[in-house]
Amino acid sequence: MFEHLVRKVVRDIDPYAWELSSEAVAAKHGLRVREVIRFDLNTSPFPPASWNAAMEAARADGQPNEYFDTSYAELADLFAAYYSVGMDNLIIGAGADEILDITTKTFLDNGDRVIVSTPTYSMYPIVSEQMGATVQRVPLQADFAPDIDGILAAAQGAKIIWHCNPNSPTGNATDPAAMERLIADAPCIVVVDEAYAEYVGWSAVPLIARYPHLIVVRTMSKAFGMAGMRLACGIATPDVIGMMNRVRPPNSVSRVTARVGAAALRDIPAMRANVAAVIAQREPFADALWEIGAHVYPSVTNFLLTRWENPAIAQSVYEFLEARGMVVRNFSSHPLLPGHLRITVRTADENARLLAALKEWREQRER
Ligand SMILES: Cc1ncc(COP(=O)(O)O)c(C=O)c1O
Repeated sequence: MFEHLVRKVVRDIDPYAWELSSEAVAAKHGLRVREVIRFDLNTSPFPPASWNAAMEAARADGQPNEYFDTSYAELADLFAAYYSVGMDNLIIGAGADEILDITTKTFLDNGDRVIVSTPTYSMYPIVSEQMGATVQRVPLQADFAPDIDGILAAAQGAKIIWHCNPNSPTGNATDPAAMERLIADAPCIVVVDEAYAEYVGWSAVPLIARYPHLIVVRTMSKAFGMAGMRLACGIATPDVIGMMNRVRPPNSVSRVTARVGAAALRDIPAMRANVAAVIAQREPFADALWEIGAHVYPSVTNFLLTRWENPAIAQSVYEFLEARGMVVRNFSSHPLLPGHLRITVRTADENARLLAALKEWREQRER
C-alpha cells in the first residue's frame, strides 16, 4: 500500500498514548459525557474567570471567514507583560506541543542527537524523532531529581537538552541552582518546559538574558484552564525567536482562542486564585490517598504520582475508577513506573468523588 512512502522515522515512532476520551469512556460504561472527570491530563477544573465575557466578545468580533492577525500583537503584548520580557522574546503557538514541534523544526537535522531525562513528558522523543534525531535518555535519580552531571556528559555533541520543570509525571521541581548549572554548562540548546510553572512559582525565564541557548516553553493549558483552546508561547532571545518564526505555522491560533487568551492574561489574579484553590486541595488529597494504600510522591504541581502494591493492583484501581467515569493516567505497566498511576488534583468535590470510589474499591478487595 502506501506504507513504503511513509518516512522511516515516522514508521519507527512510538506514538503518544492517551487514555480513552470522555466520549469513549461514557459509551463504554453507559455514562453521560459530562459526567466523566479527567484526572489524567493535569488540566485545571476551572475555566478562565473571563470565559463567558471573552466568548461573547469573540462572537461580537465576528469574521470567522477572515484570517486573524498572524503577529498576535495583542496577545504578545500581554504575554510580554506577564513574563516580564520583550515582545521580540516571544513566539506564540497552538499549545506547548506546537512550540516543541517548532523547536525541532528549527534546530534538528537528520542524525542529530537530543537528551531527555526519563521518565518525563513523552512528546520530547516524538517531536525529535520525527526530524530523524536520535534520543539519548538519562535516568532521573532515585528521588526523581535530574542527573545534571549525567545530562551534561551526554550532551557533548548533542543539539537539544529537553528539560521539564516541574517534571511530569513525577511532580517534583529541579533545584534552582542545579537548573542554572545545567543551563550554564550545556553545550547546546536547552529547552525548559514550564507547563506547570504557575504551581511552583519560579521560572527560568529571567535566565534567558544571560543564556542565549535557553528556550522556555509556557502554556495556557494548565494553570490558566485553557487546554481546549490551544495557546502557549516560547520565550528566548530575539535571535532564537527570529529563527523559530521562520517555520511557525502563521495561523495556528484562532481568533477565538486569541480573544479568550487575552482576557485570561488580563486577569492574572483570577488565575492565581484558581492555582491556590488547587494547591489547597493537594495535601489533603495526598493524605487521603496514602490512607487508601497508595504511596504518594511529594508534588509541587497540580498532580500526584502514586505507586500501588503491584502493577495488577494499579490496573484494577484504574479500571474501577474508569467504570465510574474517573480517568487517571495509567502507568501500571510502564517499564520505569510499574504500578504507578498519576492523578490530577481537582476540586474538593471531584477529589472526594474519586476518594469515595477508591474506598469502595478497597472494601471490595478486602471482602
Ligand atoms: C510537561 C508538558 N508539556 C507540554 C504539554 C502540552 O501542553 P499543551 O496543551 O500546551 O500543548 C503537557 C500536557 O500535558 C505537559 O504535561
